[in-house]
Amino acid sequence: MVSRVIPVDPFDLVIFGATGDLARRKILPGLYRRFCDGQMPPEARIIGAARTEQDNAAFAEQVREAIETFLPAKKRDPKGLKAFLERLSYVAVDAHGEAGWEDLRATMRDNVVQAFYFSVAPALFGVLAERLHHFEIARKDARIVVEKPFGRDLGTARELNATLAAHFDEAQIYRIDHYLGKETVQNLMAVRFGNTLFEPLWNAQYVDHVQITVAEEVGVGGRGAYYDKSGAMRDMVQNHLMQLLCLTAMEPPARFEPDAVRDEKLKVIRALDPVAPVDIVRGQYRASGDHASYLEDAEAEVSRTESFIAMKIHVSNWRWNRTPFYLRTGKRLRSRKSEIVIHFKETPHSIFDADAGNRANVLSIRLQPDEGIDLRVTIKEPGPGGMRLIDVPLDMSFADALGPEVADVPDAYERLIMDVIRGNQTLFMRGDEVEAAWAWTDPIIAAWEARGDRPVPYHAGSSGPEEAAILMHRDNRRWREI
Ligand SMILES: NC(=O)c1ccc[n+]([C@@H]2O[C@H](COP(=O)([O-])OP(=O)(O)OC[C@H]3O[C@@H](n4cnc5c(N)ncnc54)[C@H](OP(=O)(O)O)[C@@H]3O)[C@@H](O)[C@H]2O)c1
Repeated sequence: MVSRVIPVDPFDLVIFGATGDLARRKILPGLYRRFCDGQMPPEARIIGAARTEQDNAAFAEQVREAIETFLPAKKRDPKGLKAFLERLSYVAVDAHGEAGWEDLRATMRDNVVQAFYFSVAPALFGVLAERLHHFEIARKDARIVVEKPFGRDLGTARELNATLAAHFDEAQIYRIDHYLGKETVQNLMAVRFGNTLFEPLWNAQYVDHVQITVAEEVGVGGRGAYYDKSGAMRDMVQNHLMQLLCLTAMEPPARFEPDAVRDEKLKVIRALDPVAPVDIVRGQYRASGDHASYLEDAEAEVSRTESFIAMKIHVSNWRWNRTPFYLRTGKRLRSRKSEIVIHFKETPHSIFDADAGNRANVLSIRLQPDEGIDLRVTIKEPGPGGMRLIDVPLDMSFADALGPEVADVPDAYERLIMDVIRGNQTLFMRGDEVEAAWAWTDPIIAAWEARGDRPVPYHAGSSGPEEAAILMHRDNRRWREI
């Protein structure tokens, strides 16, 4: 049932930062998987680039180690590994230096797709873009891929956009948000726009509210110093949750094409109301059980950074008039769970006795774990007890419905890198989208800073602070279990 693999065109992909964490954990193992699956043609070449001095063989050995460390044995094909490693080469370059660039130019071919992955700190994006032009390496049709964080506020995002725009057109820039590469996120669009069933109900008249949750079990240990300068709002809400919100709330685009989809997402961001402080809960985890506290994980004595945020927001347009969207994300929560849940309204009038109960339909789209879709439907409780209503799941786990091969669908990075080679920007953020998201986020953060707002505590391993539950209770609603 898993769709046919269509090979992409031959390409030269230069990975700047090829010795770094992201390249080793995601990009290179992802490319190897696409190669084994027959999607990466034999003529494709991957060129690693970073300051470390090493030859091709040492780089290939590093990549082999990374594949063996970060891919489970069942996802590895020993036969494909040797052939994949033969597609690799390495050039030592310093973004700030002169050496190595001529070698890189000599490695590139004219007649294949050309892509440059900037898997380096954002401070290097501008320098790399300039070097690629100075040494006449990047062609007019070259593509560049950049990673989050895309700025830390509107000002820095604009600067980054301007730096890239000095050397590349928007059509050449692929800003990755790996949430958009997830199978279920794309399925959200298929469910909404490939069925007549849901779209007529997808509005304020029938939807009571929407909950978007991205809960993580892990704490910030290991990247605490970085995280402490960022927090859940910058690290998760401004990008990942915002993208999920946009895909849930947007109008149907005329076509499934990059600018048609991105225009609609942008309209959602621009329609977001400012959020009142009373509609936001910021939390920070405290030690509990075996888990250390946020402060210990972040190696900070004091910190006002939030590791949890819950908020109620409104999309001010006809479709969503007065329908709240509740967003929630946090670290060190009870379990790892990401979902988008549409709570429909109760029937306008019940024909049954009051003691039959009144139920509402709930559609949940699970991103992780166990990707799938679950629709709760009201039926009669079986048996002789008269008319009593219960709700039952129409639960479709993709793995159950589509067979075990579905577990083998490409992960988000694999899919997105292939989209870069295909030249398809639909699942990448446009510059104006990123800026609009910061324009909405900045005043919220500025208000916390002006008030000296402190996050409230929650126990590591819990569902988050009590105050987040109260945010819902106030509206006579409840969060879904994490
Ligand atoms: N790691 C993740 O899970 C993750 C997730 C989302 C986004 N990101 C983003 O992805 C990017 C890379 O992250 P990372 O975690 O892989 O960082 P990292 O482990 O610190 O790797 C940075 C890479 O940049 C290279 N580099 C540093 N200075 C350089 C220079 N002057 N010229 C050329 N190369 C240079 C380093 O190699 P040498 O020392 O050999 O030069 C290394 O390969 C960052 O923008 C990060 O925010 C990472």
